[in-house]
Amino acid sequence: MAKNKLAHFAELKEFPHVFEPSVFEGVENKSSLPGTWNSFFENKNPITLELGCGKGEYTVGMAEMYPDRNFIGVDIKGARMWRGAKTVDVEGIGNAAFLRTRIEFTSSFFAKDEVDELWLTFSDPQMKDGREKHRLSHPRFLAIYRKFVIPGAWIHMKTDSRFLADYTLEVLKEEGILPDLVVHDLYGEDWNRLSDADKKHMELKTFYEQKFLDKGVQINYIRFQLNESKQ
Ligand SMILES: C[S@@+](CC[C@H](N)C(=O)[O-])C[C@H]1O[C@@H](n2cnc3c(N)ncnc32)[C@H](O)[C@@H]1O
Repeated sequence: MAKNKLAHFAELKEFPHVFEPSVFEGVENKSSLPGTWNSFFENKNPITLELGCGKGEYTVGMAEMYPDRNFIGVDIKGARMWRGAKTVDVEGIGNAAFLRTRIEFTSSFFAKDEVDELWLTFSDPQMKDGREKHRLSHPRFLAIYRKFVIPGAWIHMKTDSRFLADYTLEVLKEEGILPDLVVHDLYGEDWNRLSDADKKHMELKTFYEQKFLDKGVQINYIRFQLNESKQ
């Protein structure tokens, strides 16, 4: 393993704003984290999660843009997460944290109604047959999210993948959820469908998003609220 990577992993362990629970805690639901996040942030502000945050620049950007909210980036890859975690450390950002775990385990780390909002940013579309269950908008994941988000929580998905966007819209239809906003060319012909607040928010770009935009790829954006489970 590269020397830098080892140093970054060591540093992650020292950052008070980085949480790296064991797989056991995730699988067995044995974590002491649920219900503690607002104490960690030392305020009662609403909590937004970015699922699959990669290098975490979106989590950090949102934390800077909305000082009255708290943001937690979730990803399994520590080497990527280190980038955002380091920025939080160096810049002394108090309303951002990182949780290193599989998204499948997130309900082991948050209590009921502890999370106010989710962002799914440029998730892997998992296009191969048999990989449906790994798409972050699969009903299995929606059921996981329902365990810890407030009723009516906003879920935002941004993706370069028209395949994933169309799949997500199919799932929402099946679940009886009417999306609040669906656009397939966020920064192009659909731009003027956004409110001024949305436009301000969209100044923030993720690492992958910027790469796709540089190549001229259109970005899909879907916003919806989770309903009660049908079961
Ligand atoms: C394509 S990258 C996008 C990263 C970032 N959101 C961006 O837009 O730049 C997808 C990220 O999701 C993470 N990821 C994918 N599946 C995951 C899972 N089941 N649990 C945790 N992280 C996952 C990967 O490690 C990767 O960092």
